[in-house]
Amino acid sequence: MRTPLIAGNWKMNGGLASNATLLAGLLGDKTELSAELAVCVPAPYLAQVQSALGGSPVRWGAQDVSAHERGAFTGEVSAEMLQEFGCSYVIVGHSERRSYHAESDELVAQKALRAVTTGLTPIVCVGETLEEREQGATDAVVARQLAPVLDAVGTQLTSMVIAYEPVWAIGTGKTATPDMAQQVHARIRVLIAERDAEGAQQVRLLYGGSMKPDNAKDLLAMPDIDGGLIGGASLNAPDFLAIAHAA
Ligand code: PGA
Repeated sequence: MRTPLIAGNWKMNGGLASNATLLAGLLGDKTELSAELAVCVPAPYLAQVQSALGGSPVRWGAQDVSAHERGAFTGEVSAEMLQEFGCSYVIVGHSERRSYHAESDELVAQKALRAVTTGLTPIVCVGETLEEREQGATDAVVARQLAPVLDAVGTQLTSMVIAYEPVWAIGTGKTATPDMAQQVHARIRVLIAERDAEGAQQVRLLYGGSMKPDNAKDLLAMPDIDGGLIGGASLNAPDFLAIAHAA
């Protein structure tokens, strides 16, 4: 049985005051959730979320991590630093990092490995562009993105979460239909099973891309969709919680 994970990706949003309101909103919901809840925040706010969420069931994490352990890498943040701030998760290979920061599949794999080695759970993002989908290349793109990650983490692949985020659905209001998403999720599980049949049944596969309270239930009902990576809707506590309750 895979516990659903509903993870918020705040992206480059927030501020000390608005974060405090949002976090208080999340903590204010006392109803029992069957899903695990997490927020992935900009690095400067990790101390704030650690202090606000510590002792609560809500976990937290970062949005990127260096592939290096330490040293002369100006501007980068190491996995050990994230761990010092109590992070459970770190997003790696988000499509915005792949496209705006030219992150290669291999670099993403190195980041995932660094996270796993340090005891953090990477949320590894994969997904095709609209052009790639229209060319019928979705499966090939996802397989290409995933292969170096599975090579790198090897036997530790159950320490990862994979997020399928079709690039054309991110922040656009266009969502993959539950069937479209399920098809890719099932394919991802097969790719993992080729390495580790038992592990593939444990790895959580999240869907991301314009998941909202009104479409979450149908997406999360699919057999291989084990949660969501939520951008826009995670910035509003009632919406984020509504998605969590749909899981
Ligand atoms: P969105 O973002 O929910 O705003 O589409 C998802 C993501 O980029 O992780």
